[in-house]
Amino acid sequence: MELSPVRDSDLPELATIAGGGVRRDGVQAFLVDWDSGNDAEITRSLAQYHWNTRATLTVESWTIEFAVRVGGEVIGVQGVSAQQFPLTRTVSTGSWLSKDKQGQGFGTRMRSLVVGAFIREFGTRRFDTGYVEGNLASRRVSEKIGYSPNGTRSIVAQNGTASTENLMVLFSEDYPYSMDDIDVSGAEEVRAFLGLTD
Ligand SMILES: CC(C)(COP(=O)(O)OP(=O)(O)OC[C@H]1O[C@@H](n2cnc3c(N)ncnc32)[C@H](O)[C@@H]1OP(=O)(O)O)[C@@H](O)C(=O)NCCC(=O)NCCS
Repeated sequence: MELSPVRDSDLPELATIAGGGVRRDGVQAFLVDWDSGNDAEITRSLAQYHWNTRATLTVESWTIEFAVRVGGEVIGVQGVSAQQFPLTRTVSTGSWLSKDKQGQGFGTRMRSLVVGAFIREFGTRRFDTGYVEGNLASRRVSEKIGYSPNGTRSIVAQNGTASTENLMVLFSEDYPYSMDDIDVSGAEEVRAFLGLTD
């Protein structure tokens, strides 16, 4: 599995695998309803989201969306966001997979890869995430990687109804996997951009 920051050249493939939506059985997964509607609407939402994410990146507030490839084929996206990272050493994550790639362990693998890499390369101490009530796959990914429940908040889910987001948190010392098999390139440039010295 290989993760690389989403580039414009990835967008057509991402739009193709997001076509028809990325959620099964009407599960509520996102705060923004980007994966409903017809394929043209999904493509526009997806592209505008990624362009906006890149255009607004600063040291103080950033999101990096990684295109996830297996055997060279794009299967989904793993996102990592932070506010004031050099001070907080805290990130939050979100992700999605092509419907036909779900339930095969890829979601767990891609989250564990970014968590391991961000601990080792950037000294990240805390990982936040959340799942909308009923999103059992997202919940299980967090549980398997060692996250603990961290309260709830009331949200309006993507279908416009009130729902509960269950928050989860992982501290670096609780990461359960070895980081030895994760290869990272470009970390020095990121450390320089963020001004990290430790
Ligand atoms: C959430 C998501 C990224 C998880 O990735 P995934 O590859 O499907 O998950 P995995 O195959 O790694 O499975 C992780 C665990 O969840 C369980 N799981 C997967 N789908 C499930 C489902 N529909 N119901 C209950 N459990 C499920 C798996 O059995 C596994 O647990 P186990 O090892 O104890 O059996 C993926 O399902 C997805 O993209 N869903 C739609 C978008 C979404 O919900 N994004 C997350 C927003 S926070």
